[in-house]
Amino acid sequence: MPLPQVHLSAEALATADAEVLATWVRRADGGPVLGGGAAALDETFGVTLSAALDRAAAKGEPGEVVEVPVPDPSAAVRRILLVGIGDGGPTALRRAGAALARRAKTPRFATDTALTSDAGGVRAHVEGILLGSYRFSRRSKAPEDPPLARVDLHMASTRPFEQAVANASTTAAAVHLSRDLANTPPNEKDPVWLARQATMRARRNGVEVRVRDERDLADEGWGGVLGVGSGSARPPRVIELRYRPSGGSTRSPHVVLVGKGITFDSGGLSLKPRDAMVPMKTDMAAGGAVIAVMCALQAAGVQVPVTGLVAAAENMPGASALRPGDVIRHYGGRTVEVFNTDAEGRLVLADALAYADEQLAPDILVDLATLTGAASMGLGRRHGALYTDDDELAEQLTAAGQASGERLWRMPLVEDYRPALDSSVADLANISRDPKVQGGSIVAALFLREFVGARRWAHLDIAGPARAERDEHEVSKGGTGFGTRLLLRWLEGLR
Ligand code: BES
Ligand code: MN
Ligand code: ZN
Repeated sequence: MPLPQVHLSAEALATADAEVLATWVRRADGGPVLGGGAAALDETFGVTLSAALDRAAAKGEPGEVVEVPVPDPSAAVRRILLVGIGDGGPTALRRAGAALARRAKTPRFATDTALTSDAGGVRAHVEGILLGSYRFSRRSKAPEDPPLARVDLHMASTRPFEQAVANASTTAAAVHLSRDLANTPPNEKDPVWLARQATMRARRNGVEVRVRDERDLADEGWGGVLGVGSGSARPPRVIELRYRPSGGSTRSPHVVLVGKGITFDSGGLSLKPRDAMVPMKTDMAAGGAVIAVMCALQAAGVQVPVTGLVAAAENMPGASALRPGDVIRHYGGRTVEVFNTDAEGRLVLADALAYADEQLAPDILVDLATLTGAASMGLGRRHGALYTDDDELAEQLTAAGQASGERLWRMPLVEDYRPALDSSVADLANISRDPKVQGGSIVAALFLREFVGARRWAHLDIAGPARAERDEHEVSKGGTGFGTRLLLRWLEGLR
């Protein structure tokens, strides 16, 4: 689905050429407050919006929508939506935007719901509209209500908000791509497909691409990626994406983003139970987010060099699959004894992190992965788990998450748990060998830390928020694109 176009207009909302108009309702102590443009709408369309608010007992809560039909059958405008914007803050405006997009059910609507906000509020609201309009379908018939194609944003003056709208569109396009990649069924989606998607899109967006195939990976010693991929008939790939800003400062930090790209996680020979396997087409969600972020850097005007790495493999229990007991040799030479082939994400990430540390000279290394069910058990589905020893980096990423609407929660790298990963035959075991050491998400993070050398590093375990069971605010059912917004926001702020 193409991203809806957003147009800014300084004309009065009542004159807009659209089937659906929307205006705002703010929550306040003395009862909900209707937007300043409501009187003109009353007059033009023969409605009484304040009465409609009363009838619906509306409160102005973010995302609340009261629908008012236009009585005159000859009017081009058929419906007016009164959209709650709560306190008018960015989170409320984002939610209001998403609710509006879901309720408009028309290819084109016009709104002044962002009228009283600053540029940050406008950006959040437009992001909400665009994210709420997301759809994914493999149905044979087109849906009944047509997709949103255009939004007219009526503001008192348009100039101050052009950049905010452009940023929102860039971000939303990246999230849509991220969601599309995650939602693509696993029969269509394998590592080769993912690499082709990345290549095609990167080239259009000023990003250089290098894809390593199974021969390159064998030559260079990527034993983790090859091992995990060996049970599948569809070979693994490592996708390297390179963005260099035009005219960036030579002192700018080089950021490397690493994403888990398991296109389907059956568990391998340590097979998952059948219900647990169902959502595992989204086990490349983090890799998809890295691809989407890389493809948005130029449009977002990011000032620092960024390299993206996606370690893509399909984890299947084929005849040549990784066995429990196998010892694999990672990029750079470290060895790992595999006790559970379902702990495969860390195996592919270990290669990529070691490669980044040894070959890419990153100033900051950030990986993201749908790594453990434990992260999702602990934090639920709304927060990503953040691991880092670097307080400044933790601060920056948490703030970017807060600002973008993708929240992180910092977790401890518990030193006492590290010996649980000792192996009697290899450098490391891929899961905890000590039944007294639980904390699966923490243990996985400690495993990854072994491969980052002395780099500034953060790890995001996004197993919870990468996927949603239903539409909620700006998040859509299925792949959510989690990580895309927060990483873009963070990178936009780096110099
Ligand atoms: N992809 C899964 C993690 C996951 C689980 C993501 C549920 C989203 C929802 C990962 O590869 C995995 O299987 N992890 C195991 C690790 C265990 C074997 C140590 C897990 O979490 O059970
Ligand atoms: Mn697994
Ligand atoms: Zn997995």
